[in-house]
Parts: sequence; structure tokens; C-alpha cells
Amino acid sequence: MSHILTLCYLIGSITFIIGLKMLSHPAKARKGNLVAAVGMAIAIFGTIFLYEEDGNKLGNYIWIFSGLIIGTVVGTLIAKKVKMTAMPQMVSLFNGMGGACAALISVIEFQHIAHNLSNDGGIIHQGILVSIFLGAIIGSISFAGSMIAWGKLNGNIKDFAYGGQQVTNVGLMLVILGIAAYLLFSLSPENAYWFYIIFGVSLLYGVLFVMPIGGADMPVVISLLNSFTGVAAACGGFLYDNKVMLTGGILVGAAGTLLTILMCNAMNRSLKNVLLGSFGGGTKSNAGNKEQGSYKEISLNDAATVLAYSSKVMIVPGYGLAVAQAQHTCHELEKLLEEKGVEVKYAIHPVAGRMPGHMNVLLAEADVSYDKLLEMEEANDEFKNTDVVLILGANDVVNPAAKNDPSSPIYGMPILEVEQAKNVIVNKRSMKPGYAGIENDLFFQPKTSMLFGDAKAALQKLVAEIKNV
Ligand code: TAP
Repeated sequence: MSHILTLCYLIGSITFIIGLKMLSHPAKARKGNLVAAVGMAIAIFGTIFLYEEDGNKLGNYIWIFSGLIIGTVVGTLIAKKVKMTAMPQMVSLFNGMGGACAALISVIEFQHIAHNLSNDGGIIHQGILVSIFLGAIIGSISFAGSMIAWGKLNGNIKDFAYGGQQVTNVGLMLVILGIAAYLLFSLSPENAYWFYIIFGVSLLYGVLFVMPIGGADMPVVISLLNSFTGVAAACGGFLYDNKVMLTGGILVGAAGTLLTILMCNAMNRSLKNVLLGSFGGGTKSNAGNKEQGSYKEISLNDAATVLAYSSKVMIVPGYGLAVAQAQHTCHELEKLLEEKGVEVKYAIHPVAGRMPGHMNVLLAEADVSYDKLLEMEEANDEFKNTDVVLILGANDVVNPAAKNDPSSPIYGMPILEVEQAKNVIVNKRSMKPGYAGIENDLFFQPKTSMLFGDAKAALQKLVAEIKNV
């Protein structure tokens, strides 16, 4: 039996790696998810039915299957109902559950050790204690932090910053590590309760760590917390000598860390800058805001004519397109223009929207063909041969200040260089700034025209106009 279980774990580990690899391309992402999920199911059911210790099976089937059924039903319902713009909240909630599981595993295993200690003074293995402490600390921070992130993104919890928060956080971490070191070398039935103080202070640390961070910076923090959950789960893998838990945890930990770094690079911000909430939260910077000239508006009729008589149009989707849920109408516009002989492509900035791959997922939902989506570098090469760039609810990712204005908070962030095209039409509702809270010089340039209105309504009217051209 144990050989079959080892085989199940091997299959699980291999499917995680293949699944993760497939997730890196939108065309294969769904299948990749499915492959990893099948591997996970094999590992879980293998454990439930094949695991034996001293000839005893796991048992507890009613508890195990009740948990599985409740989790599956609730998870499926939430995932089916979630709106695209609320995806970061859902990821945060699910990640928090993973952190809680890892922390609870540590609590249960610590209780076993404490119980054995008081019964027969059993031997303490320091390595096991280290795994237990790390799982409890990292898992609790991930759980508490993810719950705060979830509340913030839902709008239920406000940013909360106070003087000396870094000193408090460092102090709390020292308390946690100090107690853990003390227990590691002198655990006894009398002082075992200190473990629960580690658990409680770690939860408090998770709350205080995430509270001051700007709500819109949460995707970066969620990705970081994701990596924490992975590491906490890997500690569980060490604890049980379970290879599939170890592989899964390490993959999540590594992928979360890489994603955090990629997001920070794409925004040209350091992780420290994100964690200290320089912008994106309540503390918006005014740097980069200067007096601008006038801008010009374009009528729907003129926009329709310019688009219909172009040979090449590049659409730049942004956060506003997701808010307006205008992806289907956008696809309709694309098909209509192509029927009129216009070549249409999409320029995708890596941090357009509010989560990694936001625009890819949004456009995939509307069945936009993947080969129409150009990554930033490819798009930047093509703008000079483009007649019209149509910007739909994007702002920071096309702001030339990132290239030209060293005083701008987004200076150095790679952008879509749309100003190289012959004409630029920008659809948004007003002249208000985007996520970074700064003016956009692009809107005041001679080749740019503003098409004001909600993206969905504006696109619907544009489609109707183009049909008459
Ligand atoms: P933003 O710079 O946030 O601009 C979005 C624009 O959409 C706003 O200026 C807004 O202007 C407009 N808008 C909002 N609702 C709209 C609607 N219903 N119809 C039409 N327009 C609407 O978005 P972006 O260009 O996509 O840039 C993303 C920003 O988020 C970057 O600064 C990035 O660093 C940050 N960020 C991204 C991520 C990831 S991983 N994607 C993570 C954290 C932070 P009006 O109010 O005038 O309409």
C-alpha cells in the first residue's frame, strides 16, 4: 500500500510542476489548473484511503468527508459568483484559509508533543519543533494578513497607519522569535502554554503588518502572503515527511516570491516602498502633478470615422475596462473593425488593472483570440506603424511621465509608448488620475483626443456609429 501511496505523491508532485508551467500561458492556463487539481485530488484521496500508521488506517471518514464536501461546495460557489474586479479579494480569502490550515497543523502537532511530554517525558526533536514553530508563525501571519487584505479590498476595513509602526512590528517579531528560541531549548509541560502566545502574537503581527498598506497595493502584498502560505505548508511537509506537501509548498512559496518581485519591477517600486505604502493608499503623492495645457474632446461620430478608416488599430485595455465590464463590447468592436478591413491588436501592460494577468483574463472571458494580445515590448515595437491607439480605462500604464519626469512617483516604470502612434483616443469618464494619483501628460498632447464616458456605454455607442460609417 505504501508504494502505491508514494506513487500517488509522485504523480501529485509532477502534476503540480506541469500545471504551474502551463499556467504561464493564457492558452494553456485552464488545462494547467485542471492538471494540478487532478494531481492534488490523487494525493488527497491516496492519503485518505491508503495511509497507514502501525497498521491503522486514517479513519475519521465522517469528519474528513464533511470537511471536503463543505469546502468544495463553498469554494465552488464563491469562485463561480466572483466578479472579475473582486478576484484579488477571493485569492486573498483562499490564501488566508491555506495559512490557517498550516498554522492549525502546527497547533495540533504541538499538542501531541506537549501531551507526550506530560505523560512520559518523551524525547523532543528540535528539528520537529522548528518546523512546528515556523508553520505556526508564518501560517498565522499569512492568515491574519490575508483576512485584513480581504477586508480592505472589500472596502470593509480602512487603511490605518500610526507613528512607530515599524518599531512595533520589529518588536513583535523579536518577541515571537525570542519565545520560540526559549521553547526550543527548554520546552516542558509547565511552559508549553507559551506556544499559544507565539500563535497569538503572530496573528497580531499579521494584522499590524498589513493594516497600513494602501488598499490598491494589496495585490503585491497578497502575492507575498501567498508565498508565506507556501512556506508554511512546506513546514507541514517536513513535519509529516510528506513529499507532496513539501513540493506543493515550495512551488507556491517560490512562485509567490517571483510574482511579488515581477510586480514590483513592473511598477518600478521596491518591495519596501510597497510595504511602507508610499502610494496607492491614503497617502497619495502629489509629485508629478503640474499645470497642464488644454485637452481636446472627440465626438462619437468622429471617433467612429477615424477608427473605421484606419488600417491598424491598437487597443490598450486598463483597469476602467474591467470596472465597466466592457470586455464583450470591446470584442464586438474589434470584430466589427476587422470586418471593415482594419487590423486590430491589443497592447497588454504587465500591471494594467489590479492583479497579475488581469487584462489577459478579462479579454479571454470575452473570447478575444490570444494571438491578438501583444506583450508590452512587442506592442512598443508596433506603435509607430499604428494609425489609432484606443485606450480604454487605462491611465498610469500609458503615462509618459514614467519616461520623461524624474520627479514623478512612477518614473522608471516601463510603459506602453502609445504616443508613437499617429492618433490616440482615450476613453475614461473624467480627467481624474488613475491608481498612482498623478496627472497624465498624454491627455494634453496634440495627437490625443478624449472620448469621455463609461467604457461600456461609450463602446456600445461607438459600435452603433461604426455600423453606420
Ligand atoms: P489606472 O492607472 O488605475 O487608471 C484607470 C483609469 O480608468 C482611471 O483613470 C479611471 O478614470 C478610468 N476608469 C475607471 N472606471 C471607468 C469606467 N467605468 N469607464 C471608463 N474608464 C474608467 O489603471 P491602469 O492604467 O490599468 O494601471 C494600473 C495601475 O494599477 C498601475 O499604476 C499599477 O501599478 C497599479 N497596480 C497594478 C497591479 C497589477 S498586478 N495589475 C497591482 C497593484 C497596483 P476616470 O475615473 O476618469 O474614469
